[in-house]
Amino acid sequence: MSERQPIDDEPVEYDREDVSVLVVGAGAAGARAAIELAQRGVDDVLVLGKRDHGDAHTTWARGGINGALGTHDPEDSPAIHAADTLNEGHFVNDSAKVETVTEQMPERLRELDEWGMEYSRTEDGEIDQRFFGAQSFRRTAFAGDHTGESMLKALVDRARELSVPYRENVMITKLVSDGDAAYGAVGYDMDTGEFVLFNAGTVVLAAGGHAAVYDRHTSRDDENNGDGAALAYDAGASLMDMEFMQFHPTGMAVDESDPEWEPWSGRLVTEAVRGEGGRLFNAEGERFMERYSPDQMELDARDVVARAIAQEVAEGRGTENGGVYLDISHRDADFIRERLPRMYERFQDLGVDMAEAPVEVAPTSHYGMGGVAVDDHGETDVDGLFAVGETMAGVHGANRLGGNSLAETVAYGVVAGERVADRVDGPGTVPDELRESLVEPHLRDLRAMANRDGEHDVDAALADLRELMWDHAGILRDEASLREGLDRLADVRERVADLRVGPVTSESFEFAVDLGFMTAAAEAVLRGALEREESRGAHYRTDFPDVDADWRRNVYFEAADVGGMRLRTEPVDEPSEAVQAALDEGHELDYHQLE
Ligand code: FUM
Repeated sequence: MSERQPIDDEPVEYDREDVSVLVVGAGAAGARAAIELAQRGVDDVLVLGKRDHGDAHTTWARGGINGALGTHDPEDSPAIHAADTLNEGHFVNDSAKVETVTEQMPERLRELDEWGMEYSRTEDGEIDQRFFGAQSFRRTAFAGDHTGESMLKALVDRARELSVPYRENVMITKLVSDGDAAYGAVGYDMDTGEFVLFNAGTVVLAAGGHAAVYDRHTSRDDENNGDGAALAYDAGASLMDMEFMQFHPTGMAVDESDPEWEPWSGRLVTEAVRGEGGRLFNAEGERFMERYSPDQMELDARDVVARAIAQEVAEGRGTENGGVYLDISHRDADFIRERLPRMYERFQDLGVDMAEAPVEVAPTSHYGMGGVAVDDHGETDVDGLFAVGETMAGVHGANRLGGNSLAETVAYGVVAGERVADRVDGPGTVPDELRESLVEPHLRDLRAMANRDGEHDVDAALADLRELMWDHAGILRDEASLREGLDRLADVRERVADLRVGPVTSESFEFAVDLGFMTAAAEAVLRGALEREESRGAHYRTDFPDVDADWRRNVYFEAADVGGMRLRTEPVDEPSEAVQAALDEGHELDYHQLE
């Protein structure tokens, strides 16, 4: 009688798809890369989305997209846009990448217009531009306060026009790589539970960021969990600058015991509210930004405003829900409804009229400036593996300007698309050796995780991970707390190894996969924050409160041969002459134009 094999040795079934270019992620960056490929005649492309077509995190981007169109301020230029980006990135941005974005943006904005983006317009019909934090001129183009939604719709329509192939509700769980080159990716269909191997000559990761590894975050819970960074790192690519996390100053601060408000905790109250004149007050009615930033006031850089709010709350001048007040009621109701329609509707649904009363806000995790290290074309150090949009690092340095994330998605979508189109040479083939040593064992692990009756609850592990990141790698950090965070992370990791999980199509399965990504991203954030013994931009060490000129360096994270994460640093390049000249001119936002 033959003995039953342990389940993990049984053959695993999976579908296969062959494609020249696989784009993982269907937000603005993925869509724009695929459009560029299609426009250059590469049609053997497949774009994968974790949700329905047209629904990606991009739709949650609100206030605008930057580009030096000069609608109101003709003296603006791409070089000044780059100078502002470097200034607020505290000079650890990759200046070549910054210029790649700022030089392209006027053209990218006009192209979106041609593709049907419903920009807000001036009376003359020009693309309107509003003030946004820490920018010398009005350069943030917008569609009310639903810029991302309108932009993604235009991109999806354009991709459909070009017949770009798309597959929805697929989650990628591993890239197929031998550490030197990428051969494709593995994942599962979230509707049917089928496993799939995608053979692909080139993989473009456009899978978002990792801001949702924190308790309070602006994204939906099932996105921005570090998929892109973790997949690339596991495939052998380096990560960069993971310690730089952006805390948006104004997330919703709500009564979490009220079931109607609770789901909105931390969700974005767009910077456009301040860009259109909104003012911040503490619970004592004081316009406290006068003390922190008398020149730029509420429109100083996000890190400055977020720390100011945190300090007001910590010193007892916060509201009952742990925030401060954001008030735009001095503006006309019609103006608010026209410029900020989604914000107005959301608060109205919850019983607050923004035209009459202030809303409560507090900092919330919004964006990872760090991510996957790439070259000037968006390629990682793994051959054939690209990263674009929030997944890549380099453009934003230590602190991102609002409106530059949407800009980067389309600018680097084009750059990576161009590069891939030049090199693509047909569908990839996963070598048999990798199929046996990597793909099939991984799929057996996934199969073993499904329906597992482990000891620990997925939601509880997720909540603990997010809480520890908020507690130990938040707006203020120090060595002791970061080390404690690493200990707490090790404990979460142990529990992740023994989770109670539903079938492959269940939410608990998806979140169990996410937890793998999140622990990797969280470890890099904690280790990077420990390594960088200075304060710069969004990274504030209370035990090293000053900027240290010797730390004008980027931190790289690599998988060490013997396991574990190895960190190294490299100095940052100097900006071009044109951008240096713009920096020397010393432009800055004149807040008082808003008054
Ligand atoms: O506040 C906002 O509308 C966010 C914009 C951004 O992060 O670029």
